Amino acid sequence: MRYFIANWKSNKTLDETLEWFDQIQLNSNDQRQVIVCPPFPYLQQSYFEIKKRKLSIQLGSQNISPFPYGAYTGEVTAPMIKPWCDWVLVGHSERRKYFHESNQEIANKVRIAVEAKFRVILCIDEPYAQSQLAAIESELLNSCIVAYEPVSAIGSGQPDNPEHASQIAGQIKAETGFDIPVVYGGSVKSENVKEFLEAEGIDGVLVGGASLDATQWEFIVNRLVEN
Ligand code: PGA
Repeated sequence: MRYFIANWKSNKTLDETLEWFDQIQLNSNDQRQVIVCPPFPYLQQSYFEIKKRKLSIQLGSQNISPFPYGAYTGEVTAPMIKPWCDWVLVGHSERRKYFHESNQEIANKVRIAVEAKFRVILCIDEPYAQSQLAAIESELLNSCIVAYEPVSAIGSGQPDNPEHASQIAGQIKAETGFDIPVVYGGSVKSENVKEFLEAEGIDGVLVGGASLDATQWEFIVNRLVEN
């Protein structure tokens, strides 16, 4: 199985979200899992767009509260998003950097997401990948896929080289002790996605900027079946 994960970050208006779903055409393909992570306010509408258009897309949220519910102003809890999505993105380097999320907070988020029966896309970056991974309780990793994203590659147009990413993917699998899915993220575009998909140990891609445009995203996802 190959994973194609679109991380929209804090982009798009509601109209732009609807336009994206108007343009996208993805048929089901049992070799790939397409996951789109829109901002929280568009999850519900995105869910209905996917149903209406019979798209083969699952939804993920970009974050989750580490608390169950209660007096935590501004937080979005697992039960609030559960009706709309199957996946939760946790530990993105932008959350670690701008919102000072610690390894412990990220571990708490992973636990709460797994307990609520989400699958987790656990983001780790260089040079701290090893300690970020070690912070997660090992029994929770069965519900995770790992996204390896070197900070220098995110949004920079300077992707990692596929050989290095493949080597890191191998280390992640060795450290977890099983064939945990590992996706690569950082400046993935339709021109370079195939190199990453062909690299050993890399089970897919996490895409920011290039996923915002429906046509670009289709090119990326369809690269899997093209020769
Ligand atoms: P990018 O972002 O594709 O725009 O580099 C990737 C990410 O941050 O998930």
